[in-house]
Amino acid sequence: MTRIVYVNGRYVPYADAAVHVEDRGFQFADAIYEVCEVRGGSLIDEARHMARLERSLAELQIRRPMTAAALGHVMRQVIRRNRVRDGLVYLQVSRGAAPRDFAFPGPDVPPTLVCLAQSISAAQRDFKALSGIAVKSMPDIRWQRRDIKTVMLLPACLAKEAARKDGAREAWFVDAEGFVTEGASSNAWIIDEGGAVITRQLGLDILPGVTRATLLDVLAEEKMQLIERPFRLSEAYAAREAFITSATQTVMPVVRIDGRSVGDGKPGPVAGKLRRKFHHFAAISSA
Ligand code: PDD
Repeated sequence: MTRIVYVNGRYVPYADAAVHVEDRGFQFADAIYEVCEVRGGSLIDEARHMARLERSLAELQIRRPMTAAALGHVMRQVIRRNRVRDGLVYLQVSRGAAPRDFAFPGPDVPPTLVCLAQSISAAQRDFKALSGIAVKSMPDIRWQRRDIKTVMLLPACLAKEAARKDGAREAWFVDAEGFVTEGASSNAWIIDEGGAVITRQLGLDILPGVTRATLLDVLAEEKMQLIERPFRLSEAYAAREAFITSATQTVMPVVRIDGRSVGDGKPGPVAGKLRRKFHHFAAISSA
């Protein structure tokens, strides 16, 4: 089966999919993106992802390429044409292609829109959650508007590569004061000795994760104690449990941080419960 990609109004074979050499996403990282989970042929939390995409566009004054409903149609087409049942769908919008100039191009330059879908085995993801993952801490060297989901991901690539070399799957960024901000591509959470679930409060310094938002609904419904505040790396080392959240991993237990075991070094019961409950609370729309 030929893989199909959406590029600027056309569904084209993967091998032929391309954007212009002077696309501003390519030259300036002047672009934003979204990643939604596809599970059992359904789109997870579409409305929250679309709301964040619209916010990212507005913050950067990038013109919206089409309505949220039309974007939903494109995502569904790409999912269907690639017969993805479990995996992800990726949307990227750049400010468009124009002769290189730092200042924005004129209103006649349309934004670039790309959409790809990818299968990821659900069994493989669930299997990983049985053993949990290791994370490595790294200084947070990113810019000061991490609340916008831009494609400016070089610091995350560098951190993930350093983590991979240390046998870890995710990096946790740490700010100048020693507090964990978030993962390179996930939000970071710990559970303290008293059982309180702790994650950094929203602000300009982290991405407002869609999975994070849905997990807050789960915690409220389960009447679990939530504390939104920054936590230190030392607290994370001493935590009873730790985990990350993202659209592609939902709730993934963290069992090692910088080579130190978290709790007994096995995925904790609370992270396991939250992972099981997650999709009962997420918004599910057919793809
Ligand atoms: N990453 N923080 C960062 C820096 C992220 O890149 C992501 C998501 C998250 C979690 O957000 P959400 O729950 O909405 O996926 C937090 C995506 C999955 C990626 O870049 O592949």
